[in-house]
Amino acid sequence: MTSTAPGTTLADWLAAQDLRPGLADTVTAIAAACAEISAALRTAPLTGLTGVAGSTNVQGEAQKPLDILSNDLFIKHLAKVPRISSLISEELNQAHHFPIQDDTADLIVACDPLDGSSNIDVNVTVGSVFSILAGGRDALLQPGTAQLAAGYTTYGGSTNLVLTFGKSVALFTLDTDDVFRLADPAITVPVETAEYAINSARQPYWDAATTRYVEGCLAGEAGPFGKRYNMRWVGSMVADVHRILMRGGVFLYPLDSETAAKGGRLRLVYEAFPMAMIVEAAGGAAITGPQRILDIAPREIHQRVAVILGSKAEVERIAKLYAEAG
Ligand code: AHG
Ligand code: MN
Ligand code: MN
Repeated sequence: MTSTAPGTTLADWLAAQDLRPGLADTVTAIAAACAEISAALRTAPLTGLTGVAGSTNVQGEAQKPLDILSNDLFIKHLAKVPRISSLISEELNQAHHFPIQDDTADLIVACDPLDGSSNIDVNVTVGSVFSILAGGRDALLQPGTAQLAAGYTTYGGSTNLVLTFGKSVALFTLDTDDVFRLADPAITVPVETAEYAINSARQPYWDAATTRYVEGCLAGEAGPFGKRYNMRWVGSMVADVHRILMRGGVFLYPLDSETAAKGGRLRLVYEAFPMAMIVEAAGGAAITGPQRILDIAPREIHQRVAVILGSKAEVERIAKLYAEAG
């Protein structure tokens, strides 16, 4: 079986890639953590893993038992890979530095262990997001263009792993024997779309460009964009991004007057950077409005950012509205 044939195991596919030392082991460890997270989600209503945990994370958000378990599973599996120096996680105030086993620890992982956690208790798709960087514990803050790999999983009707090393984007599905197998070796995002995703309850806070864009979408065929749009908002970024990778679309969590002071809603290092790398590698685009997301140099690990990503022509339409708004 060639390494791009549907059904190829993740292990065989990784072995056929030309990767720097430790990278395949890191992806393998993340995939193992995600398979365990998937299993825990499947039975969560039976095992008491629903509801809130009673603690808050560094962002001041209520943690769910599955947020904490997912974070612990990332640490457990990454600890088995000696080349990993550190883990940045949404659920950890500070980066976790693994004990130094030798001087080759030159990989950093950043993750959102469970994204969309408000959707856990209602059995709507959630996921995990991750980014892999080169460097030791002193190199945590790097621009998005420095990422070696990025990926996410979706825990829904099927458990999927979407992975890129920057050139193409592969889709794996967790099989019934708990092995990830290749479902599509090269996903591409359709360039054009007529589907957008935004939390429209935030409309009173939107900036001029977002307001103009959504008004244009709502105006349909008679409006400035000359076509009828559809709106879909899951509330789990992984699920919204996955839909966009499968059939096109655009996702917006723009800077608005309420989130501006914090820099946005979504987190740069472990949400926006990996999703931007994946979407660009699939032929799409990812911007803050005025700027390409991957070009940002982070100042801190939990920094927030505005995110607009998806089908290239639609993101360019929005970029133009930002340029016109000045
Ligand atoms: P998390 O569960 O990791 O905190 O992330 C939730 C994020 C993202 O998944 C989603 O797009 C967004 O929050 C949903 O925001 P709203 O609550 O405004 O819908
Ligand atoms: Mn998240
Ligand atoms: Mn999360």
